[in-house]
Amino acid sequence: MIKIAVTGACGKMGGLIIENVLKSADLKLVCAIDVTNIGKDIGEVMKTGKIGVPVTDANDIENVLKLAKPDVLIDFTIAQAAVKNVTACARNKVNLVVGTTGFTKDQISHMNKEISENSIRAVISPNFSIGVNVFWGLLAEAAKRLDDYDIEIIEAHHNQKKDAPSGTAVKAAKVISDTLGGKELVYGRYGLAPRHKEIGIHAVRGGDIVGDHTVLFAGDGERIEIKHQAHSRQAFAKGAVRAAIWIYAARPGIYEMADVLEIK
Ligand SMILES: NC(=O)c1ccc[n+]([C@@H]2O[C@H](COP(=O)([O-])OP(=O)(O)OC[C@H]3O[C@@H](n4cnc5c(N)ncnc54)[C@H](O)[C@@H]3O)[C@@H](O)[C@H]2O)c1
Repeated sequence: MIKIAVTGACGKMGGLIIENVLKSADLKLVCAIDVTNIGKDIGEVMKTGKIGVPVTDANDIENVLKLAKPDVLIDFTIAQAAVKNVTACARNKVNLVVGTTGFTKDQISHMNKEISENSIRAVISPNFSIGVNVFWGLLAEAAKRLDDYDIEIIEAHHNQKKDAPSGTAVKAAKVISDTLGGKELVYGRYGLAPRHKEIGIHAVRGGDIVGDHTVLFAGDGERIEIKHQAHSRQAFAKGAVRAAIWIYAARPGIYEMADVLEIK
């Protein structure tokens, strides 16, 4: 049995991940960590009935990890918290699946350094769905053939999402920019804003939209739109749990979801 810890356990993604962990014959939930509902049974927080795992305090994560000794921690929190959680895991030799988004470049460098120096294994991805990982591959293919077309990325998410643009849109821009040898990124436009050869990125926020991403390649007389729409957070939760099983058996290093899916 692979022992799993979840940070952000009381959140939208955390709850679904725990649901999937409990259903798996290969996994055992050993701790549910958050900054709210401390001491309550996580099953009660999720309204599915007691499961005997109390919510433990993220502010005490070092001790929580030392006591529960998880094999893999799955983090879906907020960037600032995730950096702290990743550091604690690396120093306690706990492997990682990180789904949190909105990191700065410095935060990413810090996490990468901790993971490498402590020789643990981690899958880090702004999107754990199979569809989005295929979508990123399609964007690279399209960009190669449509390198002189105007490219715009439009993403839409629910009104509770904290970071913008989404991690998935940021990665889409990087995939296209890397394919084309580097492109300027322009975030939204306002006032006098003539278009040059940049990639435009636009974030829409409203209601309960789970996550839509459209990449528009527009040329003279035609356009192509490549679009992914998530219908449910299950697509992300199932991918994250699959990544946790995969990373348990992997060699030390930092991996993407494409490694897990073997579509690189
Ligand atoms: N990679 C993916 O596939 C994917 C998919 C969906 C969401 N996300 C990202 O996952 C993150 C969480 O999304 P959500 O919709 O579940 O958000 P949410 O707000 O519903 O949940 C976040 C949870 O983290 C908890 N938290 C805050 N600080 C913490 C800390 N220090 N330690 C432990 N827990 C802490 C909060 O109390 C909350 O319960 C966001 O960054 C989001 O963009 C990634």
